[in-house]
Amino acid sequence: MHSTTIICNCKQVTFGMVEEAMHHHDDLNDVVQLFEEVQKETHCSTGCGGCHDKILDAIADLLHQR
Ligand code: FES
Repeated sequence: MHSTTIICNCKQVTFGMVEEAMHHHDDLNDVVQLFEEVQKETHCSTGCGGCHDKILDAIADLLHQR
């Protein structure tokens, strides 16, 4: 996925922003915990919530790339 691809339309959060937020929590390996931290930082998935699974998938993918 490209870093400028928007994965949360409501909050205009890009894949790159999720990746960036994850770097601030390098110590976390739990997808759900990471999701919560990324959400706090980017406010992704705080609108309609329709992007929830997309964001979880992106986090899981990024986690495997580490
Ligand atoms: S698309 Fe992310 S909250 Fe609606």
